[in-house]
Amino acid sequence: MAAALQTNIRPVKFPATFRALTKQSPAPFRVRCCAVNSAGKKRYNITLLPGDGIGPEVVSIAKNVLEQAGSLEGLSHWGVEFSFREMPVGGAALDLVGVPLPEETVSAAKDSDAVLLGAIGGYKWDKNEKHLKPETGLLQLRAALKVFANLRPATVLPQLVDASTLKREVAEGVDLMVVRELTGGIYFGVPRGIKTNENGEEVGFNTEVYAAHEIDRIARVAFETARKRRGKLCSVDKANVLEASILWRRRVTALAAEYPDVELSHMYVDNAAMQLVRDPKQFDTIVTNNIFGDILSDEASMITGSIGMLPSASLSDSGPGLFEPIHGSAPDIAGQDKANPLATILSAAMLLKYGLGEEKAAKRIEDAVLGALNKGFRTGDIYSNGTKLVGCKEMGEEVLKSVDSQVHASV
Ligand code: IPM
Ligand code: MG
Repeated sequence: MAAALQTNIRPVKFPATFRALTKQSPAPFRVRCCAVNSAGKKRYNITLLPGDGIGPEVVSIAKNVLEQAGSLEGLSHWGVEFSFREMPVGGAALDLVGVPLPEETVSAAKDSDAVLLGAIGGYKWDKNEKHLKPETGLLQLRAALKVFANLRPATVLPQLVDASTLKREVAEGVDLMVVRELTGGIYFGVPRGIKTNENGEEVGFNTEVYAAHEIDRIARVAFETARKRRGKLCSVDKANVLEASILWRRRVTALAAEYPDVELSHMYVDNAAMQLVRDPKQFDTIVTNNIFGDILSDEASMITGSIGMLPSASLSDSGPGLFEPIHGSAPDIAGQDKANPLATILSAAMLLKYGLGEEKAAKRIEDAVLGALNKGFRTGDIYSNGTKLVGCKEMGEEVLKSVDSQVHASV
């Protein structure tokens, strides 16, 4: 089967409309090209990394939604098919082969067109040594795929305004994007470690370090992203204290000359944390370093009501992107059919849009999620009085139905 497909691989001639769409692709990345099989369908190889906790539940649902949305593409123009390969990562990989990121997982991910990850981590591995922690596997994967640009949108959907912990008038209409640097800074800087100093006392230390090229490339992604949104970019740093931030601010400011249509501002991270809950609507696109982005994106997610709603895309210059919900593995509800699959389903939409340039199929999925919410379906994390409480599987089925109904509506 695979061999037959191989022989039918030929260069894709995209229709003009497709080229136009990819040109408008939201970030300055090269979208992945694909093979075309004998039935004239575009075919993409996707690596699935379900991981731990609720990861396998939500990934299996997102996989079905992806397949459905792709197959419906064939009704209007080119069909889109996926070939999935599931690989272990995190705690699941530790249990299977003793490391959190097996080499086979890295090569499968690198060889594919895009990677969809569930979540990693759990109580079972919490006490492991650092190199044997599930989180280490995730950081190694980001480094191996060189996915330096992490896009984390936080949008308050009208259907979920009341799920926000902020007052309706503060939360309503929030639509921001955190562009987080993902493969540098204190997460990866050296020297790092725990040692005993001259007084015999233990000290732990890390290094916040950014080279100019690392700042420039993430800033460019952020300027391009802001340009395609509302044209406002806020760069968040701690330039009143940290040298790495002083350089960050200097480089971002210098690049602004190339993007006269984008309004650039700067904010210290402590102030940004405060402004995000005081008046989140002032933000359009935020660009920041690895650790500030980690913290601020969790904060931004709560404005939207639930971290269970938010997807993310991690992109490199040219290789496959890594797409994952920003929530964790939620071991307390794993295997109980209580997880919210929407963040992973929306990550699959980001995979189509940012990773493969399949913007139409991506939109199908986004609309289907809104459709299921409009019908009142809610998982526990976003439940409010008067809505219908459903489990993870049922929410997935409702999204699938909603994908289908769009087709019937358009035929
Ligand atoms: C995230 C997570 C990770 C991070 C952890 C699990 C290593 O919090 O993706 O935001 O800190 O980047
Ligand atoms: Mg985080």
